[in-house]
Amino acid sequence: MPRFIKVATLEELAASGALELEHEGLILALFRQGDEVIALDGMCPHQGGPLASGEIRNSVLTCPWHGWQFDLNSGRCLTARSISQARYPVRVEGSDILVELP
Ligand code: FES
Repeated sequence: MPRFIKVATLEELAASGALELEHEGLILALFRQGDEVIALDGMCPHQGGPLASGEIRNSVLTCPWHGWQFDLNSGRCLTARSISQARYPVRVEGSDILVELP
């Protein structure tokens, strides 16, 4: 059953604007875009690259390994259009970041 789990704080995310976390075997990538916090499956579907280390420009995330690109707002892969990266609902309570995980 999906539930919101505290995974980090805004202070932890603020340092770099992106954070890679592991929770029960799931790799998560957190990003800060203005006031919004975005949580994606952090493992690139191409060959497992670390999406949290990718570059973001105009809401497009580029994987650091081979350059596959993803729309941060939807999780859709812009390189292999049949693929969508899981994007998880996020809630911020005080400075705690909670992500709804499966
Ligand atoms: S592992 Fe991400 S583009 Fe290859």
